[in-house]
Amino acid sequence: MTDAKRPAAPDEVAELPGERIDGTDGIAEEDNPIPGWFNAAFLGTIVFAIVYLIYYTATGWSAKGQYEAEVAAARTQTEAAKAELPAANPYAGNAAAIAEGKQVFVQICAACHKPDGSGLVGPSLVDPYWKYGDGDAALFETVSEGRPGGMPAWKSQLGAEKIWKVLAYVRTLPRSNEPGVGAPGAPAVGKPGS
Ligand code: HEC
Repeated sequence: MTDAKRPAAPDEVAELPGERIDGTDGIAEEDNPIPGWFNAAFLGTIVFAIVYLIYYTATGWSAKGQYEAEVAAARTQTEAAKAELPAANPYAGNAAAIAEGKQVFVQICAACHKPDGSGLVGPSLVDPYWKYGDGDAALFETVSEGRPGGMPAWKSQLGAEKIWKVLAYVRTLPRSNEPGVGAPGAPAVGKPGS
């Protein structure tokens, strides 16, 4: 029983759940030791910072510098690779190389371009029409890197030498003046026998 005239004592005041009359949430603060793993991680960051600082100032290394060096190296590499590519077929007219190129052509290319180069699944290589150009460099790129319309890349299987040789052979195939397989207005690519 409470006396109506006496102010309520603190322990008599109804408490809302989660809230105490003194304004706290009832979670008591304790004094546990900091876990070892946390201290170890914290010390680790300090050690890393010191090592990094010494390394950074002593060696002059920087992420930006490393990036720039790598970009420059890659650039010289591609330029060297480009410079290595002959712009003209080094085996043009070379009978021994053409004989080797013929073997490659019969083994690999003839399945799609026909042994006489007149085209089957792949377009004719003896008509006047060239979709990707008939300069030596363009032909080399076609055979080395492949083309999206179904021409595979032969770079890894043949290597530059054999690609040049097979192209030297292609140059010797008897040519036709009619638009052949794959040329605009000619029978479509991919229809053998048409
Ligand atoms: C699996 C079938 C296939 C084989 C094998 C193949 N080609 Fe092709 N080739 C194609 C197709 C399909 C195209 C047309 C690609 C396009 O239009 O994008 C093509 C395109 C070409 C072209 C470009 C023709 C143009 O009009 O510009 C050349 C050159 C060529 N091939 C040469 C070769 C040589 C040399 C070989 C052998 C090393 C070879 N191909 C092996 C399917 C083949």
